[in-house]
Amino acid sequence: MDARRVLVSDLDGTLLGDDRALARFRTWLDGRRDRYRVVYASGRRIESVLGLVADGMLPASDAVISSVGTEVFDGIGGAWAGWGDGFENWNADLLRETLRPLRWLEPQADADQSTRKASYDVWGLSPSDQATIRQRLAEADLEVELVYSAGRYLDLLPARAGKGRAARFLADGWGIGTEDVLAFGDSGNDAQLLASGFRGTIVANALPELRDAVGRDVYQSPRPFADGVLDGIRHWSPD
Ligand code: GLC
Ligand code: MG
Repeated sequence: MDARRVLVSDLDGTLLGDDRALARFRTWLDGRRDRYRVVYASGRRIESVLGLVADGMLPASDAVISSVGTEVFDGIGGAWAGWGDGFENWNADLLRETLRPLRWLEPQADADQSTRKASYDVWGLSPSDQATIRQRLAEADLEVELVYSAGRYLDLLPARAGKGRAARFLADGWGIGTEDVLAFGDSGNDAQLLASGFRGTIVANALPELRDAVGRDVYQSPRPFADGVLDGIRHWSPD
């Protein structure tokens, strides 16, 4: 039987953060893999996510959405066919050039940059700073998804990328409707995922930036980290 439900979870601050809670999640999932597909949706690069699986920290997954929803892989790191079609009007070099005059944007390490992701460190980005960035990018004809999280990380992605769009892409490919997709997160880079019409859960340790960004139909668990994920599953999918 094909699993009819999908769990799409962020890693840092959501599934990761409390090892004993994560062990409870692993135990819960064991024996239910015929009912649930598992997708990790992380800011991390694919190598880092696969390393956590290889270490036995995380259970094997059915797919990995990595680098803030710019890349999609199968559970062992094979590129997912079809993902990235439609990113054509995106040009990372032009974007970096366009933003270079904004000296308060500090580029992250090269390892965190790609042709699909331009990432900066910028503390306390204000709405007017965001408007400045958006305006410059619009003038350069760049359609960009702006993701700000943890009061520090700024990720600029192709407009058709992001954790939510990648999760929708996978669910569509599996023929699974949004009501059977359960999504979990804790910070700003989960906002798109939790505003995509899935059954969403915010863990108790989530940052205010995420609570402020999502609607009332998202379940706010009183439990933190992986215990919040388990609580969200029971809330949305009690059987
Ligand atoms: C991860 C990525 C970094 C990104 C951050 C927030 O730490 O390595 O590039 O900015 O997640 O999405
Ligand atoms: Mg997180």
